[in-house]
Amino acid sequence: MTIDMYNLSLTTHSPDQTRRLGQLMGGLARGNDLFLLKGNLGTGKTHLVQGIAFGLGIKEYACSPSFMIAREYHGRLTLFHLDLYRLDHIEEIAGLGLDEYFHADAVCAIEWADKGIGVLPQDNLTIELEHLPGDIRKITFIPQGTRYVEMAGLLKDTLSQDREALWKLP
Ligand SMILES: Nc1ncnc2c1ncn2[C@@H]1O[C@H](COP(=O)(O)OP(=O)(O)O)[C@@H](O)[C@H]1O
Ligand SMILES: [Mg+2]
Repeated sequence: MTIDMYNLSLTTHSPDQTRRLGQLMGGLARGNDLFLLKGNLGTGKTHLVQGIAFGLGIKEYACSPSFMIAREYHGRLTLFHLDLYRLDHIEEIAGLGLDEYFHADAVCAIEWADKGIGVLPQDNLTIELEHLPGDIRKITFIPQGTRYVEMAGLLKDTLSQDREALWKLP
């Protein structure tokens, strides 16, 4: 794993490492948090969300929600996992009643969030995933709003103080 401290961008070298990065995020997550995941098919968005679920203490995480728009899991906080892949019109996304997923006891993670630009809240932690050759994925964090700048800072601190943090999680 390599970390670029300036861009808050890192690479993971296995699905497990991506899951563990998510687990670290889940540990830092608070109610009302919104994580927007962007990146092509197979870049690891679902693996990252699976890790977030583990980090929230969720045991029953199933598979990719590709055939469902929204799934709900219960841990330390509720996790709403949304996937906008199958939605092609912004009206469909606006019609989902997204507000119900943004509340104090829940974390909301949205795959294919780029499709929802304009109807999703401006304050969020955007995570861009890119496929590099082989099993390498470049993962870039773009915090928008004070809460997410703070969270991204904590994530960066954890990773910079301890570059092996991704492997030491329980
Ligand atoms: N570093 C990595 N991080 C995450 N997934 C990886 C990585 N390397 C290879 N993979 C593979 O890429 C695929 C990612 O799948 P998934 O998480 O469902 O992606 P997405 O939700 O972005 O379509 C899986 O088949 C996984 O095994
Ligand atoms: Mg997916």
